[in-house]
Amino acid sequence: MTELQELASRIHVCTDCSLSEGRTRAVPGEGPEQADLMFIGEGPGYHEDQQGRPFVGPAGQFLEQLLASIGMSRDQVFIANMIKCRPPNNRDPLPGEVAACSKYLDRQIQLVAPKVIVTLGRHSLVKFLPGATISKAHGKAVRKEGFILYPIYHPAAALHQQSLRSVIEEEFKAIPSLLQEQVVLPQAEEPARQLSLL
Ligand code: URA
Repeated sequence: MTELQELASRIHVCTDCSLSEGRTRAVPGEGPEQADLMFIGEGPGYHEDQQGRPFVGPAGQFLEQLLASIGMSRDQVFIANMIKCRPPNNRDPLPGEVAACSKYLDRQIQLVAPKVIVTLGRHSLVKFLPGATISKAHGKAVRKEGFILYPIYHPAAALHQQSLRSVIEEEFKAIPSLLQEQVVLPQAEEPARQLSLL
């Protein structure tokens, strides 16, 4: 068993916060350990909770279309979330839940060591750029220690707000050149936060 798989086994039985009480299945995240590209969403919704897999509902279908638009598929990328268990009624994760779960995501980032991390929406954005707002930060890649951070809107936002669809589609097109590091990037203003070790 790889360390990523061991981590997933631990997540499946985790009871470190009360979200474990309401979940059907925890959703550790998935993808190859050697992935150059990692997506970080918010947390599992209904479909993800049922299946134990990230981004398998409508937002996931859009994410797959976006990947196809740059010639990629989901089996080439690592897909994770800020929190691994579905909050009741899909409410926003509470700070204590994010804190309890961050050790898992931090370890996934260390193990996969992606070249590019694409944050989907505001919850994963502020993990890396505390105080940033998605309306200002979207589409602007910055260099962090060890990876390029590329914040974009959450694909679910486009399902609720049609005008964001073309914004996400346009911004997705930059991902291949970020993977090739064919762009000059500013250093992130905030120092990269220490990743916590399990
Ligand atoms: N939205 C997310 O943020 N994550 C998922 O896994 C599914 C929908």
